[in-house]
Amino acid sequence: MADKILITHKLNKTYTGKIDTPVLFDINIEIERGSFTALIGPSGSGKSTLLNCLGLLDPQTSGEINFDGKSIISQNVNELADFRNANIGFIFQFHYLLPEFTAFENILLPCWIRNGKPALELEKEALRIMERIGVEKLKNKYTYELSGGQQQRISIARALINKPKLIFADEPTGNLDRESGVAVLELMAELNHENNITMVMVTHDRDVALKADHIYELVDGRICKFIDVKKTGKIQAAKEIEERTCTVEK
Ligand SMILES: Nc1ncnc2c1ncn2[C@@H]1O[C@H](COP(=O)(O)OP(=O)(O)O)[C@@H](O)[C@H]1O
Ligand SMILES: [Mg+2]
Repeated sequence: MADKILITHKLNKTYTGKIDTPVLFDINIEIERGSFTALIGPSGSGKSTLLNCLGLLDPQTSGEINFDGKSIISQNVNELADFRNANIGFIFQFHYLLPEFTAFENILLPCWIRNGKPALELEKEALRIMERIGVEKLKNKYTYELSGGQQQRISIARALINKPKLIFADEPTGNLDRESGVAVLELMAELNHENNITMVMVTHDRDVALKADHIYELVDGRICKFIDVKKTGKIQAAKEIEERTCTVEK
């Protein structure tokens, strides 16, 4: 049996407010360690909500998340934040880099938040990551001086600085032109292979999804399809993606 880094059991999420909005229903998924998983589905199907729950940014309403053998049902907010900082990196569609800091400072921001001024070793690590990603020349630039693709590379560097076991990416190429998007994806795939970092990425682009090892499709807050691209091959996977038989029992 493959080693699973993340398993959910009957995960449900309802946004509460004046009216309650149930969004996720009994989600059972398993993420293999070191794999690249794509999460696809129509707009509004709950992809971002699921990613935010899996990434422990937003608590589920019920159900269990098991992260690397640790059960996350309800924990106090500080404990959860520490766990998240130590284990998880995020890349979003919009980069959320801070404009008053340079690229280098932005990359080190998660370390600042965790432990105050980063040690020299960490600064060296940030530089090493910048060199690996090919953005070392941008070290002292402010984020508004960078192109969209460059900003996204800096976000990836920031996601890597704490050496996370798992990176969640929510439409990381959604705001980029095709060419920069492809380059960012290639970079993510390379980092996945080189460092055995597990990647879970939301995308609405089926071609992008086919680059992953596994695909989950979400429709109306329910998982309606799982495709093992590694096993079936891309051609069969592409067929399965296109089949319009993706219905869910309600
Ligand atoms: N904070 C929130 N409060 C209430 N409803 C929300 C909130 N965030 C998302 N939703 C609703 O949850 C559903 C799923 O949204 P989302 O997870 O963003 O979908 P996707 O990422 O697949 O487009 C949508 O109907 C959306 O309006
Ligand atoms: Mg979304």
